[in-house]
Amino acid sequence: MFSRLVPILSVLLVALGPVCAIWPAPRSYTKGNSTLYLHQNIYITYNGEFLPYMAGYVPQSINSKEIVQAGVSRALESIFTDKFVPWMLHKRNRLSTFEPDVFKGQNWMKSLKIVQTTQDTASTFKPLAGEVDESYNLTISAQGDATLTAVSSTGVLRGLETFTQLFYQHSSGTFWYTNDAPLSIQDAPKFPHRGVLLDVARNWYGVDDILRTIDAMGWNKMNRLHIHVTDSQSWPIDIPSMPEVAREGAYCPDCKYSAEDVQNMQLYGLYRGVEVYFEIDMPGHIGSLEWSHPELIVAYDAFPYYWWCAEPPCGAFKLNDSRVDAFLEKMFDDLLPRLEPYAAYFHAGGDELNANDSMLDPGIRSNATEVLQPLLQKFVDTQHSRVRKAGLTPMTWEEIPLDWNVTIGNDTVVQTWLGGASVKTLTGMGHKVIDSDYNYWYLDCGRGQWLSMENGEAYQNFYPFGDWCDPFKNWHLIYSHDPTFNLTADEAKLVLGGEVAIWSEQIDAVILDGIIWPRASAAGEVLWSGRIDEATGQNRSQLDATPRLAEMRERMVARGVGAAPVQMIWCTQADNATECSYPMGPGL
Ligand SMILES: *[C@@H]1O[C@H](CO)[C@@H](O)[C@H](O)[C@H]1NC(C)=O
Ligand SMILES: *[C@@H]1O[C@H](CO)[C@@H](O)[C@H](O)[C@H]1NC(C)=O
Ligand SMILES: *[C@@H]1O[C@H](CO)[C@@H](O)[C@H](O)[C@H]1NC(C)=O
Ligand SMILES: *[C@@H]1O[C@H](CO)[C@@H](O)[C@H](O)[C@H]1NC(C)=O
Ligand SMILES: *[C@@H]1O[C@H](CO)[C@@H](O)[C@H](O)[C@H]1NC(C)=O
Ligand SMILES: *[C@@H]1O[C@H](CO)[C@@H](O)[C@H](O)[C@H]1NC(C)=O
Ligand SMILES: *[C@@H]1O[C@H](CO)[C@@H](O)[C@H](O)[C@H]1NC(C)=O
Ligand SMILES: *[C@@H]1O[C@H](CO)[C@@H](O)[C@H](O)[C@H]1NC(C)=O
Ligand SMILES: *[C@@H]1O[C@H](CO)[C@@H](O)[C@H](O)[C@H]1NC(C)=O
Ligand SMILES: *[C@@H]1O[C@H](CO)[C@@H](O)[C@H](O)[C@H]1NC(C)=O
Repeated sequence: MFSRLVPILSVLLVALGPVCAIWPAPRSYTKGNSTLYLHQNIYITYNGEFLPYMAGYVPQSINSKEIVQAGVSRALESIFTDKFVPWMLHKRNRLSTFEPDVFKGQNWMKSLKIVQTTQDTASTFKPLAGEVDESYNLTISAQGDATLTAVSSTGVLRGLETFTQLFYQHSSGTFWYTNDAPLSIQDAPKFPHRGVLLDVARNWYGVDDILRTIDAMGWNKMNRLHIHVTDSQSWPIDIPSMPEVAREGAYCPDCKYSAEDVQNMQLYGLYRGVEVYFEIDMPGHIGSLEWSHPELIVAYDAFPYYWWCAEPPCGAFKLNDSRVDAFLEKMFDDLLPRLEPYAAYFHAGGDELNANDSMLDPGIRSNATEVLQPLLQKFVDTQHSRVRKAGLTPMTWEEIPLDWNVTIGNDTVVQTWLGGASVKTLTGMGHKVIDSDYNYWYLDCGRGQWLSMENGEAYQNFYPFGDWCDPFKNWHLIYSHDPTFNLTADEAKLVLGGEVAIWSEQIDAVILDGIIWPRASAAGEVLWSGRIDEATGQNRSQLDATPRLAEMRERMVARGVGAAPVQMIWCTQADNATECSYPMGPGL
């Protein structure tokens, strides 16, 4: 009886198997249906040199071979130790029909030959958008010989991430296999800037939370972590030559990042192909300096807050006070040279400056734009030149050029968030842009109000207590967004990519993983693979994405990140997504 069933089950094998569930989708791939097992002794070379598998290996310096060695070790360690047995991706109690029979016909992966075709340069490790070629090709023969070619070590890291995603752990616990041999992938990103913005000033995050986020970004081939490190609520970054700033401005004595922490975060990212860069938001959003340097700040905790800023406690730089400039000169002289070895960018902020603040400034006493605009122009010019002088490229929020008509350098990258025609307007003006349209890519939206209302008028007005950017941006909506939508080819060339944003009024480390993942993965695929599938010329389909994203989620959970579920297991266990999609299949 049983033996007659076996051939039938093996025919079902492919129908029940997952799609080639690589996330983000490679540019092109072909795959077969043969099984290969992976052994810890697989023979790995990098440009001809043997690389041993060394679990936990950390690069000792910024060196291509060290970085590739660590990438190889992480990839294998993930496959061998994360125990990803994908029972939830197959029909209930039928995992065994998908898993290879470990007792017969074992074909082993024999080798992984990594070839990097050009030498890395200094900019490989802290690239401006477009300065590093992240493309890679990966082939695996039916006999178990794999070849990974890439132009840069960063491309090698991207290819290793894909390699990781091909393997599962067998439920017996001691075998690791892929069912997709022979396989051939050619892959390259659509956009060079694929980022996450993390606000660590509204709530406090430990270094570990940031490193874990960098890990998951690497798995999703995302490459920019923008740390919005200060705001009016707290100042968690230590400036060693000005110890008072974080001592007074951080939420607690331990709620701060030392110079060493900052370097560790940047290096940790660098070794994973993730550039970690920082934002000191100014001249608004800087109220936390009131705790150490009240002479520089106006409107801190001004009442009612909504006349002076978007949320309490307000606080902006005085725009006509030489002490502000002296402070910034000293601070940048300390901070920027420490960031520059590991990043190409520094974000100088510039969002939501409320003109009213300067009415409280004894050096100005006006909210008239014709008075403030020249002061702001001078402020931006001065700070951006400091950023350039330190060897970094300035970034700014869209209000600086669009609302204040401040002229900025043609090197400056403008980050948009207000949506609408902003990307088109800015690229039309010739600016380089990264897109964080809040209607799609703000991951904090839809969590409701954090302001409390006494019973009465406010309560009635705010009922049912939605937040300013309701609704919640679920992954389908995030996935629908194309940063180059409605742009001309010339305009589209200026879009470097985008960032999803995690503003932290109601988010902290306890819930971080489930807020970011796997929703950032959806933006990650738009940014790596493109909203449009070049093979069909059509928008990418949710039906294709869903099982891959659900699988990616399970992989992320296995790898230690608390990503939120994409679907109920009933859906992931269905033969295909038909029952959990529209249009529905004939089965219903
Ligand atoms: C595996 O692929 C080969 C070649 O494409 C095909 O002939 C064969 O039917 C496939 N096997 C299964 C079980 O689908
Ligand atoms: C990948 O393969 C394509 C097609 O053969 C080739 O044009 C490209 O240069 C290869 N890329 C790498 C990084 O080897
Ligand atoms: C500026 O303050 C006035 C009250 O003095 C207020 O009516 C107005 O809404 C404020 N403007 C902004 C942009 O908050
Ligand atoms: C800025 O301050 C100086 C004095 O330090 C004053 O002469 C000048 O009028 C102020 N500018 C504005 C726009 O208020
Ligand atoms: C300036 O202040 C006046 C008076 O408070 C207010 O009516 C006006 O809206 C303010 N202008 C701006 C640009 O905020
Ligand atoms: C900036 O320019 C726009 C369009 O020319 C204008 O509507 C706006 O009032 C200007 N803003 C300032 C602050 O000068
Ligand atoms: C950018 O600005 C610099 C300095 O103003 C100038 O030398 C350069 O030609 C400009 N580049 C472009 C592409 O406009
Ligand atoms: C493709 O996606 C864009 C948004 O990126 C949307 O505006 C457009 O309607 C979609 N096209 C189709 C045919 O669904
Ligand atoms: C697309 O861009 C054109 C200008 O080129 C503009 O008139 C139109 O409103 C835009 N459409 C959408 C949907 O944004
Ligand atoms: C999915 O299942 C439906 C019936 O349940 C079937 O008609 C359809 O062909 C299947 N699609 C794929 C891609 O297997």
